Amino acid sequence: MEKKLTFLGIETSCDETASSVVQENDDGTAKVLSNVISSQIKEHEKFGGVVPEIAARSHLENIELVIQEALDKSKKKISDIDGIAATAGPGLVVCLNIGYNIGKSIAAFENKTFLPINHLEGHALSPSIENKISYPYLLLLVSGGHSQFLIIKDLDNYKRIGTTIDDAVGEAFDKTAKILNLGYPGGPCVEKFSKLGDNNKYTLPLPIINRSGCNLSLAGLKTDVLRKSKNLMTEQDRYDLAASFQEAINKILSKKSEIAMKEFLSESSNNSINYFVVAGGVASNETIRKSLKNICLKMNFKPIFPSKEFCGDNAAMIAWAGIQRFKKKLFNTKNEAVKPRWPLDLKAPFLKGSGLKL
Ligand SMILES: Nc1ncnc2c1ncn2[C@@H]1O[C@H](COP(=O)(O)OP(=O)(O)OP(=O)(O)O)[C@@H](O)[C@H]1O
Ligand SMILES: [Mg+2]
Repeated sequence: MEKKLTFLGIETSCDETASSVVQENDDGTAKVLSNVISSQIKEHEKFGGVVPEIAARSHLENIELVIQEALDKSKKKISDIDGIAATAGPGLVVCLNIGYNIGKSIAAFENKTFLPINHLEGHALSPSIENKISYPYLLLLVSGGHSQFLIIKDLDNYKRIGTTIDDAVGEAFDKTAKILNLGYPGGPCVEKFSKLGDNNKYTLPLPIINRSGCNLSLAGLKTDVLRKSKNLMTEQDRYDLAASFQEAINKILSKKSEIAMKEFLSESSNNSINYFVVAGGVASNETIRKSLKNICLKMNFKPIFPSKEFCGDNAAMIAWAGIQRFKKKLFNTKNEAVKPRWPLDLKAPFLKGSGLKL
């Protein structure tokens, strides 16, 4: 019997110190032997957002313990591990350096292969941890820093067909939570308090909804939430505005996902199953899952959502990307330093700020 590859993953791109041991299964999925995540919510809560220097210090304090816990829980020793994969970007450089350097050092000391991993590739491949999926598939990546539609043609072959031209969806959730004083971290708090609100109470803008293509724009929506928040009278008004915001996001994502599905089919129509895969922290949101499942039903796509533990930042997705790259001998050897910006589709134009062309 062939030996199953086992990787140690390390993730420190933002405010989660994470480590995981992952083993490949025979059917193309993964067995997650441990998935340790030490969150820094308490440290950043009082600032209402991530403070890079505080995040980096916290990673430094916790990283060894987190890696040790991941090994202990997996019941593996470092000598049982075939390779070490660490996030090398995109993210906060001071934070990335902590996980990257410790991963590289352990690998050098133990004589193991080291793989620098693109955090977004981790999110993009995360649905195949638990699901047998074949390439190509359509991916909606909705996280704190990115919101993109990508055609995942194969490992290391990604075509971006849509992106946000301003705020990411998770960022819009976080800012709305801050404006409405709903708590930190923003996304889960907006979802929680929306349950108490009327999602039809406020009419909010749906920027570029009628424009062709599947780019997204959320800055105008957030600004209108800010404007309307000035006239709120009661606690109930806050919940109603949160619910109306979440409803607006649902409408935008539904409409643009439908367009993305049509684009996907025009490029690749001979698949036995058309998969629509949703990944990143925002993919945890139940109302978003529900509306996107409805669009899949309408368009005859099979929806795939990772379990919530693999939606937000985690190191299992990094170890899993490492295993897949190792098997295909794609070692990212040119990436010798961490990178704050590292798009999955290097040919896609930069559409924010001065790169914005509408
Ligand atoms: N239930 C939820 N509803 C809406 N948004 C959510 C929910 N849970 C988490 N989020 C949002 O997901 C984001 C965090 O996701 P993730 O950890 O994937 O992003 P990130 O790592 O900060 O950014 P990136 O992956 O783009 O570098 C935050 O903006 C958070 O508010
Ligand atoms: Mg992330």
